[in-house]
Amino acid sequence: MNEHANPQTLSARADELEERMMHELGARIATKSVLFRMADGEIAMESGPALRAANPDKYFLMGADPRLPAMPKQPTLIDFFNNRFASLNHLLQSATLAKKNGHSEKVILACLLHDIGVAGFIRCDHGYWGAQMIEPYVDEEVSWAVRTHQALRFFPDTSVGYEYPQMYIDNFGADYKPEPYIVREYERARNHKYYMTSRMICVNDIYSFDPNAKVNLDDFVDIIGRNVRQPEEGLGFDDSPSAHMWRTLMWPTRFL
Ligand SMILES: [Fe+2]
Ligand SMILES: [Fe+2]
Repeated sequence: MNEHANPQTLSARADELEERMMHELGARIATKSVLFRMADGEIAMESGPALRAANPDKYFLMGADPRLPAMPKQPTLIDFFNNRFASLNHLLQSATLAKKNGHSEKVILACLLHDIGVAGFIRCDHGYWGAQMIEPYVDEEVSWAVRTHQALRFFPDTSVGYEYPQMYIDNFGADYKPEPYIVREYERARNHKYYMTSRMICVNDIYSFDPNAKVNLDDFVDIIGRNVRQPEEGLGFDDSPSAHMWRTLMWPTRFL
């Protein structure tokens, strides 16, 4: 359709899209959490009664969203990689580089998982979120490294050739200063026994995406198998302290 023939405001178009998505859902009403709307600069919550009144023949979605790839009953980390993470290249490239550099399986795994917060959940404080998600399933060295790379990446370590990334100057401006909590995290980390594991995430973090690099999740299935405890019930159903995070990722539009 020619856009100019039927000019619509942005919000009218968004409403139309939402309406269409609602129909695609069939018999269920999917709802957006407040956080999803905040990303559009809006603090708003859909009114349950109003949605029900507008769709009297429908119930709210209380499980899987049919618009998203289906997840198996007992999901594994690999299933989340394949069906929920928006981009795998950066993670696979970092892990591939760590493998090529001869690092331990813990470092390779930490590189593979270091940005799952960004790839599948949320950007802000992604190191903390990612570490919390994996904490019950990996060695503490791995989750500590993932959490702490959030801070370490802002501070150079010339002993291993890590400079403050030019990409951060380009992205955040030359005058960007990490917040005090990040500085405190860095200072605490400097003398920690796992400091170098986390530092190696920074060193193997690939800042420029190489579209020609051949990377494959299959290359890491064995390392995942040896180093990630896969709960029998499936990630999200094992009552671990982070099970709810995996469930939320699986069912992001569930009503409650
Ligand atoms: Fe990161
Ligand atoms: Fe990264």
